[in-house]
Amino acid sequence: MQVIVRVPAKINIVLRVGPLRSDGFHGLASLFHAVSLFDEVQARPATGGVTLELTGGYTAGVPLDHSNLAVRAAHMLAEAAGVSADVRLKVRKDIPVAAGLAGGSADAAGTLLACNQLWSLSWPRSALAELAASLGSDVPFALLGGTAVGTGRGEQLQPLDVPGELHWVLAVADGQLSTPTVFRRLDALRQVGAVPEAPVVDPAAVAAVAAGDAAALAPLLANDMQEAAMDLYPALTETLDVGRRAGALGGIVSGSGPTCVFLARDAERARAIAETLSQLDGCTAAVPVAGPAAPTQLPA
Ligand code: C5P
Repeated sequence: MQVIVRVPAKINIVLRVGPLRSDGFHGLASLFHAVSLFDEVQARPATGGVTLELTGGYTAGVPLDHSNLAVRAAHMLAEAAGVSADVRLKVRKDIPVAAGLAGGSADAAGTLLACNQLWSLSWPRSALAELAASLGSDVPFALLGGTAVGTGRGEQLQPLDVPGELHWVLAVADGQLSTPTVFRRLDALRQVGAVPEAPVVDPAAVAAVAAGDAAALAPLLANDMQEAAMDLYPALTETLDVGRRAGALGGIVSGSGPTCVFLARDAERARAIAETLSQLDGCTAAVPVAGPAAPTQLPA
């Protein structure tokens, strides 16, 4: 018996960040969108605890112990469900690490889904979502996938029906950024008084996404963390320039970066933009993707 689940990477089509709260998080409003670049979590029965093996293109520096979000997710679910935490996890990491794509959150969400099945818990997704929120702000969205407006620290989600497909290019940078570091830089760079008390996602962006209207959406892409990410990672300026000149309708830093994400008119244009970006120094990969995508269980 084994369970295999694949979980998509996320981008933030819109990310508005409010002030630092007393709990150490920032209130935010985000238009989350899951795209077709996946990590795959395989869960097999085991005795003697939780073990983790990593495969795939992005494993360097990723811990295998309790500091890995997937390991924490397995322990947390076992404890909450009153079963013993025994599972052999194998995660294929194709989502770049510390890249603003919520790869670690995808692994945690995949682990919750796979262990829920492996341990025959039959927890509804709403119950898993509560655990997900305590694992990390992006884990509830990773569990859900698709497109959603997120508020709170990102964990309160309003799913959005998107019937069509949007085409994007992910420009993967030759380095990493730590999310808390980018939030701290943002706080340092921001002028007092310029911080929105109650950030909101522009309803026009929501409408453009719901209509699958890439041309209308392009000028509405927005990321309040972009300036801080670029301050920490100046090479992103050139990446954004090159992607836009290659024919992207728009481009922004994804989440806390350093991945840049470009919106393309169609799949063919996305492939061409990716081809140009892949020749850029400092861009280790340029991946055409489509959204929305969702977590799915694969045949074992
Ligand atoms: O929720 P998560 O564990 O992914 O967050 C990592 C860190 O990022 C937090 O400890 C906090 O410093 C920062 N963060 C934030 N506001 C958010 C989400 C994350 O300041 N809404």
